[in-house]
Amino acid sequence: MAKVLVTGGAGFIGSHTVDRLIEEGNEVVVIDNLSTGFLKNLNEKAIFYNIDVKDKKEIKSIFEKNNFDYVFHFAAQINVRKGEEDPDFDVDVNIKGLINILQNLKEKPPKKVIFSSTGGVMYGLTDIFPTPETIEPFPICVYGISKLTCEKLLYSYWKNYGINYVALRYGNVYGPRQNYLSEAGVIAIFISRIIEGKECIIFGDGEQTRDFIYIDDVVDANILFMKNDITGIFNVGTGIETSVNRIFEVVKKNLKDKDCKKIYSSPRKGELKRSCISIEKIRKQTTWYPKIKLEEGIKKTVEWFLSKS
Ligand SMILES: NC(=O)c1ccc[n+]([C@@H]2O[C@H](COP(=O)([O-])OP(=O)(O)OC[C@H]3O[C@@H](n4cnc5c(N)ncnc54)[C@H](O)[C@@H]3O)[C@@H](O)[C@H]2O)c1
Repeated sequence: MAKVLVTGGAGFIGSHTVDRLIEEGNEVVVIDNLSTGFLKNLNEKAIFYNIDVKDKKEIKSIFEKNNFDYVFHFAAQINVRKGEEDPDFDVDVNIKGLINILQNLKEKPPKKVIFSSTGGVMYGLTDIFPTPETIEPFPICVYGISKLTCEKLLYSYWKNYGINYVALRYGNVYGPRQNYLSEAGVIAIFISRIIEGKECIIFGDGEQTRDFIYIDDVVDANILFMKNDITGIFNVGTGIETSVNRIFEVVKKNLKDKDCKKIYSSPRKGELKRSCISIEKIRKQTTWYPKIKLEEGIKKTVEWFLSKS
């Protein structure tokens, strides 16, 4: 049994990871300020602290009281458009929040820090698809730049203080519990709007593509990298591009009893036309592969949203 800290453990990806960690017999401590996460997501066996990762005093006291074997860092400001409107906030939460955790790990490094980075916006305006980790990342949004900075910080704390880490660059993660009120997560947004009898808004022509990865596959990768001794940066996606128009059609197929309407709106400024990440590296170096096909994942997600409606 390991003692594991999960920041952002009441959020979408964090709470699923907490469930798996607890299922596997680990002791889990969660830090979350519930800004976009929910107590109802939280596994009742987790020890919970309603704390902000920016809070130096409170975070220090958690580390004084505990010795963690592993640290998952999910807590972040994840809304790309919010990052553009208020860049300081991304810097505070995403960059300074990570520094606050790392500073406390210097004295007694855990076996590994597992960091949630982004594959969706990390590579910016590249024309190489699916995009491998080897190209120089050039994100064109503050959120992506904050995640790239975090990766650099992790590297330097590893080199200078021996804090082992892995940064997982997720594609567009989807599945049960995704917060449809936040702007990320087109699948959760479409499903919830249709259930509420509202039309789905598609920005631009809907032919923009993303690499959609089901939550269970992401949790598998998280746990695998906790257990192995690999350090560095890995894409976690499918290597498959799917358009927003296609997402609408698959969601519609699974909600055929409902009135599924879509309207097209002007494209969003700065939105990438294509995003799709190569999974060659993770496939070569580990046993991981994405198991859930898009149709199956959307079906499961629709069922979950219907069960909660
Ligand atoms: N969902 C995706 O498609 C995706 C893709 C790539 C990377 N990521 C990354 O994965 C991580 C989890 O994302 P998610 O989709 O589960 O989002 P989420 O919003 O559901 O989870 C984030 C959690 O962090 C908490 N949090 C935010 N700011 C905090 C703070 N200052 N102090 C303490 N807790 C704080 C929130 O309350 C929430 O519970 C994030 O770091 C995100 O950048 C997500």
